[in-house]
Amino acid sequence: MSGHMPRQKTVLVTGYAVHQEVLAIAYASSITDKVISFAFYNGGKSIDCVSGLHVIATARRPEVLAELAELGMSTVALDVTDAESIRKCHEEVAKLNGGKLDILVNNAGRTHTHPALDISLPDVRATFETNVFAIMAMVQAFIDQLIAAKGLIINISSLSSITPYLFGSVYCASKAAVCAYSRTLRLELAPFGVRVMVSMTGTVKSNTASQGHRILPENSLYQKVKHIFEWRLVFSQNSNTMGTETFAKKLVADSLRSESPGWLRSLFGRPDWFWYGGMARAAWFGHSFGEWVVDAVCWNKFRMPEIMKLIGEDPAQKKRK
Ligand SMILES: NC(=O)c1ccc[n+]([C@@H]2O[C@H](COP(=O)([O-])OP(=O)(O)OC[C@H]3O[C@@H](n4cnc5c(N)ncnc54)[C@H](OP(=O)(O)O)[C@@H]3O)[C@@H](O)[C@H]2O)c1
Repeated sequence: MSGHMPRQKTVLVTGYAVHQEVLAIAYASSITDKVISFAFYNGGKSIDCVSGLHVIATARRPEVLAELAELGMSTVALDVTDAESIRKCHEEVAKLNGGKLDILVNNAGRTHTHPALDISLPDVRATFETNVFAIMAMVQAFIDQLIAAKGLIINISSLSSITPYLFGSVYCASKAAVCAYSRTLRLELAPFGVRVMVSMTGTVKSNTASQGHRILPENSLYQKVKHIFEWRLVFSQNSNTMGTETFAKKLVADSLRSESPGWLRSLFGRPDWFWYGGMARAAWFGHSFGEWVVDAVCWNKFRMPEIMKLIGEDPAQKKRK
């Protein structure tokens, strides 16, 4: 483990994934979490000339931790869905940072692409455990260190929280919960000087599409559009997808910007809402206009005319009736 230097700001990021470059290419995936870490690492070096940032990398798999340690990072084991693991992590981190945590990045996440009619509730609960309840638990566990540093919490949400991602109802609901939770948390933590930033993440290259490949059940009402379901499983990796490094660098740079008061914050300082990644600008624009714009765009984006033809009421036929 690398040591903590005086006055060095600490960043704790949940959910690292490190892969051999060759493997990463083979899986058509990438190394988002590692890049986030490096961006904080390098970003810190160039922005904070005094000492740089001290990145504490966490992951649940020992082989990932070993690789990160080899790169010279502080590492701590953490399964964000396990209360005991969070408690131990908090203890370990306090030894590394002297009880002050400047930035907590709640990045660990679980994708969930399945038609709402085909979901299994234990599976849904597992997604909410990782995407929602784990964030709540991490905030409660680390709030002492965050208050001590007057720190910043970055919760990684998604454009899916404000757009109807076809076959993504569970994921959308979990990420919308992150937004709603964070918005209120921001008010409640303001008296203690702790800030809350939400990343409205667009499509970014990562390993997400290779996480637990889902299968459409034989008796699914969507069997006729199985090809669209398959297309949807890898949508985030094929739709204006932004490079991980580009995304990570911007997230890091914006999170380290100075604090501006009120609405000026979004223009000049660290934004409360960080809209970035593939399609983020368009989603922000549509969202600002009204939900009907987003719904109308998504109808075509998610191939609903084709789905209606194959399993629904074709508008052309409806007209003829
Ligand atoms: N990529 C996109 O287009 C996109 C878009 C919007 C939002 N996001 C969000 O961005 C975040 C990062 O995802 P990603 O796209 O980089 O996917 P990813 O490559 O699959 O990374 C997800 C990471 O979360 C970790 N994780 C999952 N469950 C965990 C647990 N219980 N404890 C600790 N770590 C856990 C995974 O670790 P293991 O390797 O051990 O499973 C993995 O390192 C997620 O919150 C995701 O929802 C991504």
